[in-house]
Amino acid sequence: MSTLLTGVGELVTGDPSLGDGSLLGLLHDAALVVDDGRVAWVGRSVDAPACDDVHDVAGAAVVPGFVDSHSHLVFAGERSAEFAARMAGERYSAGGIRSTVAATRAATDDQLAARAGAHVAEMRRQGTTTVEVKSGYGLTVHDEARSLQVAAALTPETTYLGAHVVPPEHADDPGAYVDLVTGPMLDACAPHARWIDVFCETGAFDADQARAILLAGRDRGLLPRIHANQLGHGPGVQLACEVGAAAADHCTYLSEDDVDALASTGTVAGLLPGVEFSTRSPYPDARRLLDAGVTVAVATDCNPGSCYTSSMPFVLALAVREMGMTPAEALWATTRGGAASLRRDDVGHLAVGARADLAVLDAPSHVHLAYRPGVPLVRETWVGGVRA
Ligand code: NIG
Ligand code: FE
Repeated sequence: MSTLLTGVGELVTGDPSLGDGSLLGLLHDAALVVDDGRVAWVGRSVDAPACDDVHDVAGAAVVPGFVDSHSHLVFAGERSAEFAARMAGERYSAGGIRSTVAATRAATDDQLAARAGAHVAEMRRQGTTTVEVKSGYGLTVHDEARSLQVAAALTPETTYLGAHVVPPEHADDPGAYVDLVTGPMLDACAPHARWIDVFCETGAFDADQARAILLAGRDRGLLPRIHANQLGHGPGVQLACEVGAAAADHCTYLSEDDVDALASTGTVAGLLPGVEFSTRSPYPDARRLLDAGVTVAVATDCNPGSCYTSSMPFVLALAVREMGMTPAEALWATTRGGAASLRRDDVGHLAVGARADLAVLDAPSHVHLAYRPGVPLVRETWVGGVRA
């Protein structure tokens, strides 16, 4: 059955070869045909073909569904007291992860699935149609594997993050924990994961440990990505480029060599400005990356510690206001940039053939996403051609 979405005041195709030829490929007074879950036609509404069903959005802007390329949704408990302490002057450190690990281990499978599902539903209401979900709060063979099974029921973009931190029971022998992550834990998790990730940072894993972990995962067919250069300068970005990671996420503290390596390898820089907001830290310099030709994605990093927002419109607004991005660049980074980070070409845009994943805004232009921060502007979210 075909559906005509018409009366689109501004259609963001995400394809510069369409419409006005800009980065976002804007079409005005536009329409889009959805057939079998895909975009079958885009153009001016006056030229639209007949369809089985017609849905008139009365002048609204339509944008590609957001692609959230970084989240940690499988967890139990919450850390609002830690947030309040930070806002009273405490610094963020990787150590807080361990309190979520304890709560997650104590939760049942059903509790973890219900909570993660609720967060995905919350994301959908805010226009997110593709989300990457990591494990990383279990840190035993059993708890990492079940975290990934919970994630896999929600998204194909699942990431094994057994190397989030060294759990307390291995504090005396981190090497033994790396052996576990690259051995029995990898065996149990690989069937449920597409990606492998490691938190490469002081207090988590150093470059040699992170390299061993990413290469072990790569040998098992998992695709590397990394948490890098979040809390200070470090080796994570160079390692990402060395192992051919799809993305280096955080990228808050970068040297010139880091920027050059990202630009020359095509590794996507994933910026997570909700983290800087929620830890009251300096924002990454998106302008510097864009001007150097680096592909930039912007994502939520939704997690109970460093950033507990599920809202792509919120991080988009932060990217504009705090990181020097234009509204068009920020929308690109939350859609096509996220898709590049996940090596997906079927999402993040609305050209013919793409998945019909989109958000209808209560606004005439995509600019309102940054211009009206904090306002729930997503009126409808469509996933695979179906209104979610
Ligand atoms: O991406 N950096 C490591 N992991 C998360 C934080 C997790 C936590 O604090 O619970 C992040 O910021
Ligand atoms: Fe993260």
